[in-house]
Amino acid sequence: MCAAIALVVLDSRLGLIQKKADSEAIHLIRSIGDMFEMINYLEFSMVRLWRWFETPSWKRFAGCLDTLSRCTRDKQKKITIKIKVSYTSHSLAFLLYDLSVHPDIQEKLYRDICAQCPDPSVPISRENIDNLPLLKACFKETLRTVMTLYFVYSGSHKDTHTNCCRLKPVVDGTARILDVEAVVSGYKVPPGEMFIFHNAQACRLPQYFPEPEKYRPERWLTRDSQRHPFLHLPFGFGIRSCVGRRLSEQETFLLTIRILQKYRLEYRGTGQLDYFTRIVNKPDRPLKLAFIPR
Ligand code: HEM
Repeated sequence: MCAAIALVVLDSRLGLIQKKADSEAIHLIRSIGDMFEMINYLEFSMVRLWRWFETPSWKRFAGCLDTLSRCTRDKQKKITIKIKVSYTSHSLAFLLYDLSVHPDIQEKLYRDICAQCPDPSVPISRENIDNLPLLKACFKETLRTVMTLYFVYSGSHKDTHTNCCRLKPVVDGTARILDVEAVVSGYKVPPGEMFIFHNAQACRLPQYFPEPEKYRPERWLTRDSQRHPFLHLPFGFGIRSCVGRRLSEQETFLLTIRILQKYRLEYRGTGQLDYFTRIVNKPDRPLKLAFIPR
């Protein structure tokens, strides 16, 4: 995932899938992970000393940013782009997990893939992917049950990204700082207020998603007039929506097709895969999958 995104965004190969990966590339990937961890820690500490002093955690965070800047300075690309590499890999991990623990769905998808892309050596076309609605539905359902992203807010007042405090159940979504007054469900929201779309919460309402806790991709295969399209916005909406969406989806679909063409997936981990929040919601344990040749 990182390798492919770096190729598109940074126009260079990180060499991560070679036997001996470039140490600078490994350093870059580690820094991305550390950076998320430190943002989470710094934001949610009870006492935020880092606001006044350069605490060790702050220095570690700043070190990560330095590494990220150094690694991409030559390429003259923005940092916001490169930190997104984790989103796609975590989403793919959750999708493969969901398929591995739902063998019936995996088998159905495999049959669709065989019908659409019978020869694994032939390149996969846009049309092939368009003709695999179940694949798209599975990904949508994975993103519904596990929102990859915690909170992102944007608006003219603050053009930045941040996260909010963790609630249970986890409420993830996007937010905007309003430019103008708005009336929503009879509530007047003044300009300058942050307006949060609790998509993850909305996605779990049984009146729109019967048996919301169940992984049921087929719910996306039929149009439900009761279900407003804005209930599920994993990539946000509008001019500030995710610019990496197409890349991320394409990568996920291609990889899933290629994997399922050759292997049957079985989950070999202990316990259910859950997630914790490092701004990006990531798997809470190593994903142990068996790839059984078909
Ligand atoms: C499954 C993977 C991903 C998910 C779920 C995701 C989700 C999101 C969400 C929810 C937003 C905020 C949208 C809004 O406020 O309306 C966003 C913004 C953004 N995403 Fe992604 N993203 C993913 C992958 C990527 C990738 C791979 C890249 C880059 C290659 C990327 C680049 C960006 C950028 C640059 C923004 C900020 C756009 C702006 O503020 O104008 N994303 N993403």
